[in-house]
Amino acid sequence: MMFPEVRLRRLRNDERIRALTAETRLHPDMLVQPMFFDAGADRVRLTGSMPGVRTFPLSGCEEAASGVADSGIGSVMVFGIPEGKDAVGSGAYAPDGVVQMAVGRLKECSDLLVIADLCLCEYTDHGHCGVLDADGCVDNDPTLELYGRTAVSQADAGADIIAPSGMMDGQVAAIRRALDDSGHRNVPIMAYSAKFHSSYYGPFRDLACSRPGCGDRSGYQIPCGNRREAMREIEMDVAEGADIIMVKPAGPYLDVIREASLSFDLPLAAYQVSGEYAMIKAAAEKRWIDGRRTMEESLLSIRRAGADIIITYFAEEAARMLRGRE
Ligand code: PBG
Ligand code: ZN
Repeated sequence: MMFPEVRLRRLRNDERIRALTAETRLHPDMLVQPMFFDAGADRVRLTGSMPGVRTFPLSGCEEAASGVADSGIGSVMVFGIPEGKDAVGSGAYAPDGVVQMAVGRLKECSDLLVIADLCLCEYTDHGHCGVLDADGCVDNDPTLELYGRTAVSQADAGADIIAPSGMMDGQVAAIRRALDDSGHRNVPIMAYSAKFHSSYYGPFRDLACSRPGCGDRSGYQIPCGNRREAMREIEMDVAEGADIIMVKPAGPYLDVIREASLSFDLPLAAYQVSGEYAMIKAAAEKRWIDGRRTMEESLLSIRRAGADIIITYFAEEAARMLRGRE
């Protein structure tokens, strides 16, 4: 059968038929809100390039938690801005480090599922994701030991999931071993498996003060044109014991999300990063696009590509929109 018997528009004429035949839906349960805590701050701070994203002081954990929980979001990913930095990123694995403190307080005052981002770049004075060797290159294997320590300290603080984002080889295995050896056998790892060397991280680095002082992250993050290499990264993380895999950024890498969702049976997360968020917010502020509809379209596209979990700065706003429609 063909036109004129077949008319695809029949299913588009009525709002309720469109809802009935919708192939892709969003639900607050699949969204994760990133959250920032600054150990040296005494009040909430805003960042120009990330409209609507607040950085909280440690005393603001309760306020931070209640806003998110109120929207219907159940999961957050915690990032920290430490008071001091050094060559080996000691703030990342200090028992009283900013993430450890924030995680402890969030768990105390809420029922939120708390995912801890694990990296050294917010804590090193050179801004790289690992320790440097004599030539100034990020030294893979000594970094693994520090990642293991960081994971244990985050789990000790109460983190429900550990999410390593540094792209060192062997990081998932090292963290799994460290967690298992310290009585955290049941703490899952959400691996930033396919993290590309992207310019879309710019606003995050302003906010988290984690821009590398010299050089860039091309020595460890995936070149943006390399899809097969991304699949190898995911394969390795699966073999090392990752519980959840991730593709990051999301919108510009929908093909990678699609392929990962078809090739692997683990839950798949996608991280809609700061630059993706900032571009939509900036264009919406200028009234060049409809901010809400673009937000929804961007999230639906990530979901349609195959992501089960979406980490997004829109989480709270999207959850409020979805609930308003119920
Ligand atoms: C830390 C980390 C980064 C992001 C998440 N974890 C920054 C980076 O790799 O430079 C980016 C998040 C974003 O841009 O929203 N390694
Ligand atoms: Zn990093």
